[in-house]
Amino acid sequence: MPEKFPIPEVVRAPRTDPIYNAHGYLTKVPVDAIIPYLESLTEPGDLVVDPFAGSGMTAIAAKITGRNAIVSDISHLGRHIASGYLAEVNEVDIRDASKQVLEAARKESEHLYKTIRQEDGSNAVMVRTVWSYIYECSHCSEGIVFYKALERNSWRAPSTCYHCEGSFSKKGAKYISDAPLIVVVKGANGKQVEQEVARIDLDNIALADETRPSIPSLEIAKDREMYKRSALEKWGYRATSDFFSGRNAHVLKSIWQEIVGINPPSVRQKLLFAFTAILPRASKRYQWSKKRPLNAANQNYYVAPVFYEWNVFELFERKVEAIIRADKEILSRQHAYGVYSPTEQKYEICSADKLRYLGDNSVDLVFADPPFGSNIFYSDMSLFQEAWLDGKTDATTEAVIHTTGTRKNGSAERYESLIVDALAEAYRVLKPGGHLCLVFGNSKGSIWSMVQNGLAESGFGSTPRHIAILDKGQRSVKGLNSGFESVATLDLIVTVQKTSTKDRETHIRTSLEDTSTVLVQDMEVEESSLVGLTSSHIYLSVLKEAMSNGISVTDLHLSDIEDRIEHLGLVLNKRTGRLEQFVSD
Ligand SMILES: C[S@@+](CC[C@H](N)C(=O)[O-])C[C@H]1O[C@@H](n2cnc3c(N)ncnc32)[C@H](O)[C@@H]1O
Repeated sequence: MPEKFPIPEVVRAPRTDPIYNAHGYLTKVPVDAIIPYLESLTEPGDLVVDPFAGSGMTAIAAKITGRNAIVSDISHLGRHIASGYLAEVNEVDIRDASKQVLEAARKESEHLYKTIRQEDGSNAVMVRTVWSYIYECSHCSEGIVFYKALERNSWRAPSTCYHCEGSFSKKGAKYISDAPLIVVVKGANGKQVEQEVARIDLDNIALADETRPSIPSLEIAKDREMYKRSALEKWGYRATSDFFSGRNAHVLKSIWQEIVGINPPSVRQKLLFAFTAILPRASKRYQWSKKRPLNAANQNYYVAPVFYEWNVFELFERKVEAIIRADKEILSRQHAYGVYSPTEQKYEICSADKLRYLGDNSVDLVFADPPFGSNIFYSDMSLFQEAWLDGKTDATTEAVIHTTGTRKNGSAERYESLIVDALAEAYRVLKPGGHLCLVFGNSKGSIWSMVQNGLAESGFGSTPRHIAILDKGQRSVKGLNSGFESVATLDLIVTVQKTSTKDRETHIRTSLEDTSTVLVQDMEVEESSLVGLTSSHIYLSVLKEAMSNGISVTDLHLSDIEDRIEHLGLVLNKRTGRLEQFVSD
């Protein structure tokens, strides 16, 4: 590094703050990862841009620190979430409106959750119901209630049918239907108690199913990547509405109808923001687990064989409070920064390769977090919430690599040219001296090399000013699909500067030997110092070293690092994902 850069080597931003948790969006970057860059590389009142804005965390970081922001994305859900965060509504008005919505909606549909508390026979309302898939046994054709099979097998995956003892594996087994099994209610002492599903519950479920309303829904078409990846054909899911029980379809519709009638629009927007935030939990995607609910996997449409049907009124009530907490957090952090007068944050729907709303040399800082390749299909997953909103994302320019379906051909090239063009756009709009901070993570050197070349070719030069490891505290969602191995679980934030192109070195040394040399040098440290790290951590350190020295990373794959680790006598603990000393038996 030519001079000391005011950002640490590791930027830590755990995903636990009230702002982060108010509304989910895939692969959000917490504001605490963005703020150090705004503080160090811009002044109050400067203009910050994020062309892959998603849920708008950059705009919120700008608001907190008194910067102006114009952020953009192709995502309508992203704009809805960001606008929800940014809307300024008085806490009392939100609570009053939410009370009004809940009172009216409860009158309409709460009877469907009515039950009897079995411990004392009193009237109660279900808090949640546990449902299980029923599979057909391939030997005796009897129905296997998966939850019961788990219970009989001490909560481990069952390998035999509990009717005939024939072999059973849920993979490949024929699915018959879903069955409600356990109802959770509040006990007399206020604590939650589990009880078996009773006649009254079954009657309510049947009534809700018979009178099931049509709710806003979008088709998850067969050519959508997530249709195939989530095996929707097998489970019979065709549209977003299929993921809701009859009861929850009734309740969601009654709440939504009340919200859309609320005025003023800013309060309506906040409540709709709370509403879209609860949709995954209100659906069958909310996974059951013996220990505690596992939430919905937000990167796919997976429905677990045991799932919850949650009381939507309670989800909504709690979410409104979480949103009020997030609003307070934004405000108190603004005050901590001495920001009392408003700055402007705007969200445009626009593809990052054509930032038509921005002039040349007009922006002080670009903070960009593009999709990382073929792991996450944002527009497919956004259908779930967009069904209830006005706009739907146009995915034709989505920067993503398709691996199945009709869009597979030429997809890698389209992704690459979009990212490279987006980097060139960032260069165009930046003022001379302005910085681009690029969040990126991938386990393939070829994808990193595309970024490296794109930065160099667009004028930012071949050696970044700074590279930080972004540690969000848990494994990156972008890498979750394939387990620990060969998946980068940390991301890098690469900072480059727009200076005069003439004095920049744009050549990236491409020899394989160079990369290997860096790799080996970096790995030939005391092996004990690697114990406890993850292989991704080491991979990113090596990548960082190579990129900082303008050396091509094309052939630097996470699996190379894992091979090297083996040679050093270390093993990867599959459970923790961390390196341990190899001990022979
Ligand atoms: C990694 S996410 C950004 C998440 C964001 N940092 C946040 O905190 O919510 C990448 C985003 O890029 C968006 N995207 C994909 N293709 C795009 C394109 N051509 N132009 C602009 N945005 C695009 C996706 O919709 C997604 O929201």
